[in-house]
Amino acid sequence: TRRSLSQSAAMSAAIKNVTVIGSGLMGAGIAQVAAQTGHTVTMVDIDGEAVKKAEKRIGDSIHRVAKKKFADGDEANKFISEALGRLSTSTDAVSSVTASDLVVEAIVENLDVKKKLFAQLDAAAPQHTIFASNTSSLPIGKIAEATNRKDRFGGLHFFNPVPVMKLLEVVRIPETSQATYDAMVAWGKTMGKVTVACKDTPGFIVNRLLVPYMFEAVRMVERGDASPRDVDTAMKLGAGYPMGPFELMDYVGLDTGKFIVDGWAKADPDNPLFKSSELVNKLVSEGKFGVKSGEGIYKYKK
Ligand code: NAI
Repeated sequence: TRRSLSQSAAMSAAIKNVTVIGSGLMGAGIAQVAAQTGHTVTMVDIDGEAVKKAEKRIGDSIHRVAKKKFADGDEANKFISEALGRLSTSTDAVSSVTASDLVVEAIVENLDVKKKLFAQLDAAAPQHTIFASNTSSLPIGKIAEATNRKDRFGGLHFFNPVPVMKLLEVVRIPETSQATYDAMVAWGKTMGKVTVACKDTPGFIVNRLLVPYMFEAVRMVERGDASPRDVDTAMKLGAGYPMGPFELMDYVGLDTGKFIVDGWAKADPDNPLFKSSELVNKLVSEGKFGVKSGEGIYKYKK
């Protein structure tokens, strides 16, 4: 109806102040894109060093973005200085949410730590503030239990690297209100993302299909049916994928892949798609995580 449409439009228009908690790989990217798209952003981390590193990475990345976007150097410099001018940092999560319209959490993937954070934020944030988690593998509903605002809680699942990847999965729990959902979708669009809707199920859309696919590729190699190189070549040239499953696994991190599958297997032990892999377990125990550690399925130059 007209009324609810205008109400939700008013609500989405209200997302101006964004607090991003966690300034790691994902949080820094989310904060950067939010600042680039006109939001006032506070980026928070408990670790002051992590904040400094994130500021450096954002500075580098935003220069690349501006160079692509503007042929004119003055316009590029204006874009950069305005975006960085909208971004501030903090090491105190609680005081950073008092004027926030939206909190996006991207801290360590640990349910208890996330719940503890959101319980503190719930007491400090204004009534209207929407809370969202960027978790890849934890149930949004379980995290929301720490708050008294389940109707204003959802998942905003971005992809790495955030400034480049166009997709945003918008996850609703049964309690998420229509106004909250609409506001999250509208915000995703102002961030320049294409949004898809998903219920609060393990892996949402992308990882639910991608993670079992990667592990099925590992099982193929474990059986000796094909080599990693040939599997990657086959999926790139035969299925049109930009990366093969092993290149992708090395990029995501074998430790991350293992962590996700082990978490899902705990909740659903009989699902054959969530079975762990001896090869992955071995590589992870040897510190071979993929690109970031210099070796995973493949070896990389450091
Ligand atoms: P990361 O390890 O790069 O960054 C996490 C940051 O959170 C660290 O700087 C850490 O100091 C900080 N932190 C930890 N506890 C905190 C607390 N209580 N308060 C404030 N800051 C705290 O991790 P990454 O990769 O950025 O992942 C963050 C979240 O995003 C996780 O929930 C993960 O599942 C999710 N995610 C990760 C993706 C990826 O490709 N790495 C993709 C999509 C989602």
